[in-house]
Amino acid sequence: MREFDVVVFGATGFTGRFVAEALAAAAAPVRWAIAGRDPERLAALRRELVDAHGAAAGVPVVVARSDDPASLRAMVCRTKVVASTVGPFEQHGDPLVDACVEHGCDYVDSTGEPAFWRRTVSRLHAAAVERQVLLVPCCGFDSVPHDLGALLTARALEGERGLEIDAFVRATGDPSGGTWASLLEALAGMGRPEPGAGPTSPRGRTRTPMRPHFEPAVGQWVVPLPTVDPLVVRRSAQFCPELGPELRYRHWLQTRTLGKTAALLGGVAALTVLAKIGPTRRWLLARKPQGQGPSAEVRARSKFEVVFIGRAASGRSVRVRVAGRDPGYGFTGATVAAAALVLACDRERLRYRGGVLTPASGLGDPFIERLRGRWLEIDVA
Ligand SMILES: NC(=O)c1ccc[n+]([C@@H]2O[C@H](COP(=O)([O-])OP(=O)(O)OC[C@H]3O[C@@H](n4cnc5c(N)ncnc54)[C@H](OP(=O)(O)O)[C@@H]3O)[C@@H](O)[C@H]2O)c1
Repeated sequence: MREFDVVVFGATGFTGRFVAEALAAAAAPVRWAIAGRDPERLAALRRELVDAHGAAAGVPVVVARSDDPASLRAMVCRTKVVASTVGPFEQHGDPLVDACVEHGCDYVDSTGEPAFWRRTVSRLHAAAVERQVLLVPCCGFDSVPHDLGALLTARALEGERGLEIDAFVRATGDPSGGTWASLLEALAGMGRPEPGAGPTSPRGRTRTPMRPHFEPAVGQWVVPLPTVDPLVVRRSAQFCPELGPELRYRHWLQTRTLGKTAALLGGVAALTVLAKIGPTRRWLLARKPQGQGPSAEVRARSKFEVVFIGRAASGRSVRVRVAGRDPGYGFTGATVAAAALVLACDRERLRYRGGVLTPASGLGDPFIERLRGRWLEIDVA
């Protein structure tokens, strides 16, 4: 028996607060705690939670730092699940996932950083299987709508073979300082040699070259979107028979016009160059300080929609739409909290007992049930 079911690590950060809020609002029958590096900020957050949600939200506080292995060990030994929003994960992530595998604690997080994800898969999958620990990174906007949407698209084509899925993403909103820092970290690392994701996660293949084009299925220009999401979906395909290891998955960003497409590609190229140079990266980092994020008004206007077009070798096709609001923060807080609750409460319903898995393969239907209708609109046509 461990003292806690769930510990939210990074609870004082911009995203971590939304995870703590979601757990307090869920009022689930779980023992949970908030964790971070600063006891005073944690105590202030605890007071805010009690003011908003009543005495039951006066949860215990755990102090731990990602650069203090003894504190991480002590934290993971007290809980069944850690939900981490301590990013950039490229800087802070490895010691926590190591401690989780070593001490038998399940793990979910809000990362969207491809290098951290690949490294965690390749370093820890085998040990996590052996120790029956579930590590499920990418439980925020990266990669929940895309991964679950692909799974539901494949299910709508049940019994068919040779599946191809194209996902067309549209999202609005501003990044927090933590997301901005993580994006710059990821761009700075592009092209750096990284271990692959191991033999259980091939990169997947596409039948046609991926180029910007006008896409009649969504009536928009689209550009290839090389985020962590296609890596995650292709890993799901290795573990979810509905998707199948032969799945061809392509991930696209919708842009409104050819001019916006060109501006976007130019902007990303320029940002990548600037992120790789120390002084300009520091200048960019100072534009959005960590700990801060978009206002309530901006978040209230922010939304996302992902359209999936699934095709089978037989010629049958389906269209699935997944949508929601406030992707980066309200949504990510809710999905990371729901993922932690699945591991804490629904573990016996899960397909796998251990490994570095994905939202679809590691959390599956109990996760969909917790999100559908509340945070995820799902339409299958
Ligand atoms: N994929 C998605 O859709 C998505 C959405 C939202 C966020 N994210 C990711 O989530 C991460 C957090 O974003 P954010 O905006 O919440 O960032 P943030 O506001 O800067 O929060 C970072 C948190 O990490 C804590 N922290 C920093 N260094 C630490 C250390 N050495 N030991 C322990 N804790 C430490 C901070 O503690 P203090 O409070 O004491 O400073 C804070 O609680 C980022 O990587 C971001 O990219 C992803």
